[in-house]
Amino acid sequence: MEEIELVDTFDTDKKTQKFRSRKTQAWWDEQGGCENDIIRVTGVDGHLTRNLLKTTESIKRKKNFFDPGTLVWGNCTGWWPGLVVDPDDIGMLEDPVKIWIFWLGEGKISQLKNTQVKIFYEGSTDRLADILNGKTRKLGHSFDEMIKELGERLNDKITKPYETWSKRIYLKLKNHDDIIFYPYPLEIKNKLDQLKLKNKELNSNKSIASQALNKQKSNNKKLKIDDKKSSSVNKQNDKSSTDVLHLKFQKIGTIVWGKIAGQIWWPGVITDYHDCGMQEPKFGCQWIMWYGDYTLSQVNHKCIMNFEKGIKKLEPIIKQSKRDVYKKGIFQASLDYCEFYGVKTEGWTLQSIFDWSKKPKSSRVNLTKRNLTTQLLETIKYSQKIQSELKKHITKCTTADVREHDIKNSSKLELVKVGKANINELCLMCLENYDESLINHPYFDGKLCQVCLVKYKPTIFAYDDDGKCFFCTVCAGTDTVVMCGNPDCPRVYCMSCLKYLISPKSYKKILKCEPWNCYLCETNKIFIKSSIIKPRIDWKNNIFELFKTSHETMSSCLKRFNNKKNKIRVLSLFDGISTGFLALNKLGLDVECYYASEIDPDAELVSLVNNGNLITRLGDVRNITEEKIRQILPIDLLIGGSPCNDLSLVNPKRRGLHDPNGTGVLFFEFCRIKKILETLNIDRHLFWMFENVASMPEEYKQDINKNLGCEPDLIDSSFYSPQHRPRYYWNNIPLSNSIKLSKDLQDVLAPNCNRYALVKKIRTVTTQLKSLKQGTKALKPVLMNEEYDCLWTTELEEIFSLPRHYTDVNNLSATKRQKLIGQSWCVQTITEILRPLCHFFTQINS
Ligand SMILES: C[S@@+](CC[C@H](N)C(=O)[O-])C[C@H]1O[C@@H](n2cnc3c(N)ncnc32)[C@H](O)[C@@H]1O
Ligand SMILES: [Zn+2]
Ligand SMILES: [Zn+2]
Ligand SMILES: [Zn+2]
Repeated sequence: MEEIELVDTFDTDKKTQKFRSRKTQAWWDEQGGCENDIIRVTGVDGHLTRNLLKTTESIKRKKNFFDPGTLVWGNCTGWWPGLVVDPDDIGMLEDPVKIWIFWLGEGKISQLKNTQVKIFYEGSTDRLADILNGKTRKLGHSFDEMIKELGERLNDKITKPYETWSKRIYLKLKNHDDIIFYPYPLEIKNKLDQLKLKNKELNSNKSIASQALNKQKSNNKKLKIDDKKSSSVNKQNDKSSTDVLHLKFQKIGTIVWGKIAGQIWWPGVITDYHDCGMQEPKFGCQWIMWYGDYTLSQVNHKCIMNFEKGIKKLEPIIKQSKRDVYKKGIFQASLDYCEFYGVKTEGWTLQSIFDWSKKPKSSRVNLTKRNLTTQLLETIKYSQKIQSELKKHITKCTTADVREHDIKNSSKLELVKVGKANINELCLMCLENYDESLINHPYFDGKLCQVCLVKYKPTIFAYDDDGKCFFCTVCAGTDTVVMCGNPDCPRVYCMSCLKYLISPKSYKKILKCEPWNCYLCETNKIFIKSSIIKPRIDWKNNIFELFKTSHETMSSCLKRFNNKKNKIRVLSLFDGISTGFLALNKLGLDVECYYASEIDPDAELVSLVNNGNLITRLGDVRNITEEKIRQILPIDLLIGGSPCNDLSLVNPKRRGLHDPNGTGVLFFEFCRIKKILETLNIDRHLFWMFENVASMPEEYKQDINKNLGCEPDLIDSSFYSPQHRPRYYWNNIPLSNSIKLSKDLQDVLAPNCNRYALVKKIRTVTTQLKSLKQGTKALKPVLMNEEYDCLWTTELEEIFSLPRHYTDVNNLSATKRQKLIGQSWCVQTITEILRPLCHFFTQINS
């Protein structure tokens, strides 16, 4: 046990549901969901409320069906409690108007009409009591199980007399829309699995029988096999593997059929999560934008079907359907599909599509056009219709519109404008004025409230590729920003802040002015006259003030470094495979010396083979005496991440920070050396960074905070790499969480090897082999030649931004290599953390 797996991944068999978005935890608890199911809409937190309200409404509107797991009363021969189940979970066929019910206690299933099903709380109070008191049918085991779970869910243990209990439960139930047990309780899940197996056997027997029958028919020289009959047999096996669109064809922009629990097959287009402003999809899933209602869902890759196959197969269901939005969606999807293949569709109806799909392929597809369009597809991923729907979706999520709306509608800002209130009573981000806890905005007149400050702080040092800030200097917003023309100034301003707050009158002039130097660089009086917020003269001090832990030393060292930059001198404790060294090289920093303390010979060998004598080895950290330190002074940067196995919550036998026989205690070696350096380092400021797992108990964290004098930054490597790796970083380096569109797993898989990623980001890789598998069922994250496969070591190296074959030394086994990689830092993440050092030390090119 060396490290932890923090990010709970997703069980492929459990399908995400349509129309989910971020809601309160309580809502999800009620729905029987779990935190991991929440789809996070990207954007600055707290600016999404309006958008979310809409989504909630649309969920309510669309809820003319029951979600799987919903507790209901069903009426067959009297009312009996049951759970709605997804037909897929019991190996049965979907019916657009009927609902599959699993009878609690009996373990049987039935298909009921809408009218035969009632939401649980609608049943009479006595019904449940009667069952519990044994007045109607006998109790079954799964019923007991369910009632127990229900009690727990409502925080009310079952008590006798049952009448009283069930009355109490009813009162509680009334406050809930519906109660959903999904994932199904274990007892029930087992029953459903058994049923599924049985039904599968039954269905395959049926289809064998029908094949035999068909054979016989053709032998008898009867007419063609009745298409419809065979398709209705096929329907029993709705998701036979041949219908699944192979992962390699599941490209962004492909029009397909997708299926999610509780819904019929529906047409949609595979969408890049960046394009729709959504979170990366879960394990084995794709984001699909649905035709018709143009909402988005995550769909398991096994529930995605070839579009043409679907049209043929679903024709009877489509024709039967009375849902207008369904038919409209299918029609639009077909038009888009045909357009991609250069098929003219003028004057077509839905019937023309069915007719077209039945023609032989050669007459259906214009091959020359097809080649053309596949090329086009590389650049134009989506049809015009989808593009515009995606745009709508994105704008719904962008902060720019929200910011503009907020500014225009802020009554408090209005008061400021007419001189009835003071800007220094207003938080420039949320435009509210709270009575307490407003602090000065560092750059402009006006304030920040505590809530906004927490969001604002980390954005200050977030730089984009062009070296300019990523977020607006005033409001930390993104989208279109105006950049300061001064090459030494990284600051940018969002359009709304510029237009409504900074210079309402000269806004247009600014846009035309080339180059335009911002107010923090130049106090240009003409522009400032009309501005509602004026720049602060002492903004430099304010920034130091904000980052208190590094404030004093930072300001003094900035003064020193302003004129003269030195080559950087580094001491790396617990150096591992020298990822710190790689990061410094990546930044182009001119490393004068790099001292490394490490005791694992394999790790040292990897470092030695790759970096040779550029690194000076100091061995065991405990042997680094004050004497030794005096010899290597001065040191500009001290880094290290001590072993975490004795600190991580996942290790029940962890020894904590203070057990002298554990490795946790090595943290104090870092403290000891840091203290010595801080006293002995003459005329040199010490930057430092200490890393460890984020899964440590709060008390350890507090202990470390106390000893290092600050709170850690929590950074997940998925910002910068195809891996989730949330870690704490204590440091006195200005935070630079430059948000870049990072690589996905597919980008690092060995090229031209027929390897396809089933997941966009893998969860934390640890020293454990099993961590290379993803999800609760230990699924492998790659599909290669139809088989699931683990990551190769070279791919793993690339995930950590190590050069390929970096650990391939001295015939180290794959296991040993993974162990070294699994405990190392993600080079890209460390690079981003250390990036601000470029302001203070010489780089090789400069
Ligand atoms: C969590 S790993 C750090 C890996 C490193 N950050 C990297 O990127 O490769 C902890 C390292 O501390 C090393 N270590 C353990 N005890 C040590 C000691 N007494 N002195 C120096 N290093 C030690 C381990 O061998 C291991 O490589
Ligand atoms: Zn605020
Ligand atoms: Zn702004
Ligand atoms: Zn500027």
